[in-house]
Amino acid sequence: MKGNFPTNKFAKIETPFYYYDVNLLQQTLDSIKTESGKYGYEAHYAVKANANRKLLEIISAAGLGADCVSGNEVKACIEAGFPASKIVFAGVGKTDKEINYSLSQDIFCFNAESVPEVEVINQLAAAKGKTASVALRVNPNVDAHTHAKITTGLNENKFGINLEMLPEVIKLIQSLPNVTLIGLHFHIGSQITDLSAFEDLCVRINDLQDELESTLGITLPNINIGGGLGINYEHPNHLPIPDFESYFRTFNKHLRLRSGQKLHCEPGRSVVAQCGNLISRVTYVKVGTVKKFVILDAGFTDLVRPAMYDSYHRIENLSSNEEYETYDVVGPICESSDVFGKDRELNKTKRGDLIALRSAGAYGEIMASQYNLRELPKAYLSTEI
Ligand code: LLP
Repeated sequence: MKGNFPTNKFAKIETPFYYYDVNLLQQTLDSIKTESGKYGYEAHYAVKANANRKLLEIISAAGLGADCVSGNEVKACIEAGFPASKIVFAGVGKTDKEINYSLSQDIFCFNAESVPEVEVINQLAAAKGKTASVALRVNPNVDAHTHAKITTGLNENKFGINLEMLPEVIKLIQSLPNVTLIGLHFHIGSQITDLSAFEDLCVRINDLQDELESTLGITLPNINIGGGLGINYEHPNHLPIPDFESYFRTFNKHLRLRSGQKLHCEPGRSVVAQCGNLISRVTYVKVGTVKKFVILDAGFTDLVRPAMYDSYHRIENLSSNEEYETYDVVGPICESSDVFGKDRELNKTKRGDLIALRSAGAYGEIMASQYNLRELPKAYLSTEI
């Protein structure tokens, strides 16, 4: 089964381009709102997954907050209508300029990752006569069992503060006059499909909360569990909406929130991955001695995930219903890593055919580059073509 695309409309559009299915995005957002709403949890969309202005507007209109990792992301969210009171700002290397801008906008919270960072936030807030809300990112040392480049919650990773150091760091922060510690922040990795990793995270948070209560006598009002829920790259047509019901139920079942405590999460990929597709055209079909190559006009400059993480994206020929043949599907970039898929079954393919690279809405358009002086891919919503 192939995806349902308006191929007649695509015929007029220059390739490669991103195509976003607004209906599917809406259904996905509805599911997030319904399932998180059951427990009063608050979702902040992880903007790093896709900062396309029109998508941001749809996501903010649905009532989600935003999780940003740069001053420019904070700015893009404010411009796209996210209330500052729902914006969190994370990242190990926030610059003074980014912190100052976020302070001026009165964002909900800085997810801070080190003592020197909190000290700088304190100084800059003092200079503005403000008090900044800070959540501390804790490294829970939970293995997310995902790709090494997107595992973040282990002690060896650069993110967050290690559990052993936490009580000391909390005491230090409490001594600073222009920051208020309002929560703890966690993130264990991305593309997590085995929910038991999130159960492990819950257990770690429960233990930590017990310990902080008994040693320091404190309970913080917010717990942020980060993002990470995976999507089904193999079957985007059968399972287009991630299982948010099970995801949120896992936290409701395993995490012991204290009374008045609010749970926040930061889904990125699970919000936008399936609604986005990279549409490309076949420039040549090249028959070698061993393999047949489909050479696309899209390359890793448009979608870097296969080259960078060996990740799988389903590839469909939208122009052909002929019998299946086996091809390596590659891009035009002068690097041998510019391969979208090896030994893929595609309907018999010829020059000019339209090809869809599926599940490309997250970490696709936003990670595009101009290497080889290529143009950045354009993007269209289903509602505007
Ligand atoms: N919160 C924090 C603190 C994060 O570091 C991330 C992702 C998220 C939330 C959102 O995670 P998600 O729900 O999207 O899994 N470029 C890679 C993924 C990098 C993820 C980085 N952090 C990829 O294409 O797979």
